[in-house]
Amino acid sequence: MANSAQPSDNQKDQSMSPQNKSGNNGPFKNPLKEAHQHSSPDPCLIVIFGASGDLTMRKLIPALYNLMYDGSLPQNFVCVGVARRDFSHDDFRKKMMDGIRQFSRTKPSDEELEKFSSRLFYHKADFADDNGYKTLQPFLQDLDKRYGTRGNRVFYLAVQASAFTTIVDHLKSNGLIYSLSDKERFSRIILEKPFGHDLNSAISLQADLTNNLHEQQIYRIDHYLGKETVQNLLVFRFSNAIFEGLWNNRYVDNVQITVAESIGVESRGDFYESAGLVRDIIQNHLMQLLCLVAMEPPTNLTPQAIRDEKVKVLEAIRHYSEAEIGQFTRRGQYSPGFIEGEPVVAYRKEDRVNPNSNVETFAAMEIHIENWRWSGVPFYIRAGKRLPKRSTEIVVTFKRTPNILFHKDDKHNTPNQIIFRIQPNEGTSIQFNSKVPGSMNIIQPVNMDFQYASYFGRGVPEAYERLIYDCILGDNTLFARVDESLNSWKFLTPILEYWAKSPLKEEEFYPAGTWGTPDAELLLRAGGRIWKAL
Ligand code: BG6
Repeated sequence: MANSAQPSDNQKDQSMSPQNKSGNNGPFKNPLKEAHQHSSPDPCLIVIFGASGDLTMRKLIPALYNLMYDGSLPQNFVCVGVARRDFSHDDFRKKMMDGIRQFSRTKPSDEELEKFSSRLFYHKADFADDNGYKTLQPFLQDLDKRYGTRGNRVFYLAVQASAFTTIVDHLKSNGLIYSLSDKERFSRIILEKPFGHDLNSAISLQADLTNNLHEQQIYRIDHYLGKETVQNLLVFRFSNAIFEGLWNNRYVDNVQITVAESIGVESRGDFYESAGLVRDIIQNHLMQLLCLVAMEPPTNLTPQAIRDEKVKVLEAIRHYSEAEIGQFTRRGQYSPGFIEGEPVVAYRKEDRVNPNSNVETFAAMEIHIENWRWSGVPFYIRAGKRLPKRSTEIVVTFKRTPNILFHKDDKHNTPNQIIFRIQPNEGTSIQFNSKVPGSMNIIQPVNMDFQYASYFGRGVPEAYERLIYDCILGDNTLFARVDESLNSWKFLTPILEYWAKSPLKEEEFYPAGTWGTPDAELLLRAGGRIWKAL
C-alpha cells in the first residue's frame, strides 16, 4: 500500500532538477558545503598510516578523490601514504587509482584521476622504527614548501589500536605533532575504531595518547556517524513536533536496532580473531545509534552539547551481573550455510582463523536505559556477519491501543512503528492501521514511506567524506569523545569477560544465511515480542 511522504511543490522542483537527478556521475548539491557554508578548509597535508591496507584503498582514497571532485578539499592539499611495503610513489598512485575506479561512488574521468594522483605520495616506514619518522619529517616539510600546505597535518591511523601509541609517540618526538596552542598550524589525529580492546586498555590508551595530544586533537572515527541517515536521526527527532511527545516510556513499547551483514569476515580473519563482533560493531556503531535514538535534546548543536547528551544515555545503561548477562545477552558464530544460494564456509574455516575459535560473529542483547524517559522500555540490539542480508534498521514500536473498539486481542492489534532504514534503501517508514475499503470492518497496517533516493537523488557523500572533511575543518561533532567510548566499554567489558570464560556451546552456532542463533528469538519472546522481519 501507500506511499506518501510527498515533496511540497517547492521541494519537488528541486528534487527534479538536473542537479539532483544526476545519479552517480554529475554534479550535485553538495551537502558538505551547505553544512559548512561559512567555512573553507585550510591548506593541509593528510598522512595515512596503514596505506597499503584495504580501508585506504576502498574507502579513504575514494573519499579524498570525491572531496576533491566536489571542490571540498583545499586547493593546497597533499596526501602521503605510509606503510611498510616497498612501493614507489608511482606504485602507490597506481594502486590507489585502481581503488578509485573500483570503489568510488562517482565514475572518475582519466583527467580528474591524473589531477588527483599528482597529489599522492608514498613514504616507506616501519611504525616502530624511529628512522621512518626521521625521514618523514623533512619529506613533509618539503611538500609543505612545494604545495603550500603550511605545516597543517591530519594523521589518519588506519591501523590496529595496538599501534596507536607507538605511532603517536614517534610523531611527537620527531616534532610532527604541535601543541594545541600553536595558532599558526594544526596537527590532528584520526583513530580508527575500536578504541582499545576493553575498558582497561581504553583507559590506558587514552592516558598514553594524552601524553602527546590534547583531547581536541583526537578524532575517534566511527563512520556510522558520517552516514546521512544517522545524522538525520537528530533532525527527525528534534525538528519535528509530532514525534517528540511520543518518544518515551508512556508510548514506546520497545526499540530494536539491527546491524546485519551477509558478508563474512572476508580477508580480516586475524582482526576478527582479536576483536569479534562486539568490539567491531556493537561497542561503537551500534551504541552510537542507540544514543541518537535515546538521547535528550541537546541545548544547542555544539560538539560538547551533543556529546554530553549521548554520554548521559550511556551512563544510564544498566550494567548486568553474571546472572543477568545469561538472561539478557546472546552470542553466536556462523557455521557453514548459504548466502544468496551460494555455499559459504564456517567462520572456523575462514582464512587466518583458529579452527577452534570461540570468537562471536553474532550478538543480541536486551538493554535497559534507566532514566525517566526510558525506564521499562527494552532496547533490543543485534548484529551479525553472514546473516541473510545487509540491513541496518532501527524500529521504534509503540504501545497498542486498548483492545476495545477495533481489535479483540493483541494478535489482531498491530502496533504503530517508525522504521529508520539506515541502509540500504535509505529512508523512514511509519506504519499505522487503516480500514480496508468495503462493508466489513477489516483493519490492515499500512505504510507511509520516505525514501532518500526518490526524494533527494543519489548524490549523497560517503560517510568517510563527511568525516575527513570535518576533521580538516576542525569540527569534531561527528567523532566519538573519550567518555562515550569508555562508557560503552563499561557496559560491554563484563559481558565479553563472562563469555570468554566458556567455549561456545553447540546451540550457539548458526548456519550462515540465517538470523543468528535461535536463542536470540527467545530473548524477545520472554517479553511477548518478536524481532521485526527485515
Ligand atoms: C566496519 C567493520 O567498521 O563496518 C566491518 O569493521 C563492517 O566489519 C563495516 O563490515 C560495515 O560498514 P557499513 O558502512 O558497510 O555498514
